Amino acid sequence: MSSKPIRKAVIPVAGLGTRFLPVTKAQPKEMLPLVDKPVIQHVVEEAIRAGIGSIILVTGRGKQAIENHFDVAYELEDMLSRRGKTEDLELVKSITHLAQFAYVRQGEPLGLGHAVLCAQHAVGDEPFALLLGDDVFDEEDPALSALVAAHEATGHSVVGVQQVPREHVSRYGIVNAPQPLGPWWNVHTIVEKPSMEIAPSDWAVVGRYILTERIFEHLQNLKPGVGNEYQLTDALAMLAMEGQLTAAPIPAKRFDTGNKLDYLKANVEFALKRKDLGNDFYEYLRDLINARG
Ligand code: G1P
Repeated sequence: MSSKPIRKAVIPVAGLGTRFLPVTKAQPKEMLPLVDKPVIQHVVEEAIRAGIGSIILVTGRGKQAIENHFDVAYELEDMLSRRGKTEDLELVKSITHLAQFAYVRQGEPLGLGHAVLCAQHAVGDEPFALLLGDDVFDEEDPALSALVAAHEATGHSVVGVQQVPREHVSRYGIVNAPQPLGPWWNVHTIVEKPSMEIAPSDWAVVGRYILTERIFEHLQNLKPGVGNEYQLTDALAMLAMEGQLTAAPIPAKRFDTGNKLDYLKANVEFALKRKDLGNDFYEYLRDLINARG
């Protein structure tokens, strides 16, 4: 059993966003909005809901907009204050106080395993959460907190999983299926982006992890894997061999915001849930669909 609470979250944001060109040519994909809030803020807020207060972003060249978003915006705040726009001012200021932010750089895109290793000195000697920014979950259901519960019960590293269509398994890290289905299960096999034929199941790792400090030892010894990148999944496979890896299903609905269609769906669903926009937007969509027959 682990006695250490999960206090820190690592979020890699150095990726180039090649799945979302041209909008990501000159701006970080993490800053694309879901309605009016950037994707990265949704992810940070999910970590905070799971009780985490310290956020470590693994960043790279051309990503300054992310740091600016979580920093004080002096000119904007001054202007809003002078114009008496109190609500907007509070909104802008609250982002800076969401959590404590730290930034480490990943100079070269050498893979997810490498990105996590770049954060080692900022994480130190304690278990931590890892959240991948492309995966965004419905805010009303637990996502990361489901993993924290599994970690508290087992003391192991935990991967958040969901079932995906069999023809999509080659996009994900895939774990063995549960026997029988419980709140979580022991992982003995995990494979990065397997073909449909060799995939151990259709349970995919969906961008949420709790990692014990032991992961760093395995990351340090990694050899390049699939795509010639240092794959986190290969280090997780070492934990699985040691009987130290748990899979926890995430009940929340997931959107892969790095995929254009999923990004559009996420915007529609998040907008429909908004108190200030939902009803008008629903009526607009309904009329639009009716007009198309
Ligand atoms: C990464 C991981 C993969 C995981 C996926 C979840 O892949 O390597 O194991 O299933 O994220 O989104 P990527 O999407 O970066 O290729």
